[in-house]
Amino acid sequence: MMKRALTVFCPATVSNVGPGFDLLGFALEQPGDRLIVRRNDEGILRLIDESGTGLPTDPEKNVAAIAVKSLLEGLQEMGLLREQDALQDQEALQDQEALREQESLQEQDAIHDQETPQGQETASRSKAPAGKSTLPGFDLIFSQKINPGSGLGSSAASSVAAVVGVNELLGAPLTAAALLPYAMEGEEAASGSYHADNVAPALLGGFTLIRGYEPLDIKHIPYPADLYCAVVHPDLQFNTMEGRKVIPSEVPLQTAVAQAGNLAGLIAGLTTSDYGLISRSVTDLFAEPYRTDKLPAYGELKKKSLAEGALGTGLSGSGPSLFSLCRGEEIARSVAKVMEEHFRQHGIGCMTYISRVSEAGCRIATEDTKEEQR
Ligand code: HSE
Repeated sequence: MMKRALTVFCPATVSNVGPGFDLLGFALEQPGDRLIVRRNDEGILRLIDESGTGLPTDPEKNVAAIAVKSLLEGLQEMGLLREQDALQDQEALQDQEALREQESLQEQDAIHDQETPQGQETASRSKAPAGKSTLPGFDLIFSQKINPGSGLGSSAASSVAAVVGVNELLGAPLTAAALLPYAMEGEEAASGSYHADNVAPALLGGFTLIRGYEPLDIKHIPYPADLYCAVVHPDLQFNTMEGRKVIPSEVPLQTAVAQAGNLAGLIAGLTTSDYGLISRSVTDLFAEPYRTDKLPAYGELKKKSLAEGALGTGLSGSGPSLFSLCRGEEIARSVAKVMEEHFRQHGIGCMTYISRVSEAGCRIATEDTKEEQR
């Protein structure tokens, strides 16, 4: 008996965390993605959006499909696909051939580039090495989604959940950590940049530091036991790719030194439970100053949350969500209220989440989805 389908839960994440642009992030207890990953015998990636968030279901445009494609190709290159997982039966290969012809007809059609209406399915063929076997197929069913464009790691969660689910159905050939570069392929497609500050905590849980990218060097950071985070997600959408274009590609030396001081201070504060040091360090000089113009009276909002007791407040990722690190749940709740009220005064509704750092990253949610004899 081989598992044919499973459900994966992947947490939302706060990235940058002030001075850690592209380097720091942590997993939240909620919200999160729920993705059903199911084997199909057609050798295709089929995307089904049941989340109501209007995800693209064209596999060329969907980050989860991009990440899965890269994983399957990687596994094949490494010789890690089990014999029984390669799609070898003749009928399936013929189906693939028909699909390929259909796709090439579609490509000639200008309609190809239009987004698929929500709920509709589209599929792409996994890359087939000439003539012999080809890659296994999967349906990815998005049943619950972190809002895209929220700054809470929505594209990272899709990519991570998909590679975790597919890896599991293939008999777990890779460890969670080894899945990271494949999930990053999805994130790169969404943001135009190969960064892991959402992907790493979404996959591995906890508070993560990316010490370096070449090679990837990820470290879990300890943090105080009563560290809480208040997250407010205003009813706005920011596009990360656009949010990266507005950041200057060079910074004056003085700014770099100040940012390095804050990043070192934040890490030191977290590891030694020095709340004063944490509070003095949650400041971003690289990205945040260029990204808050669409948030009403942002400076005032920050002052209000600090006055309410937040250790530090900043943009979660590229926004529009905001995070406030707080000492204890009570303070986190009152800080969240103040931030929520601020947005309400400006006519903007919000979702609020109070969370500790979640030690659990992406995980298999159920064991019982459907099992079939193969
Ligand atoms: N570090 C990234 C950024 C996070 O700020 O652009 C969003 O993906």
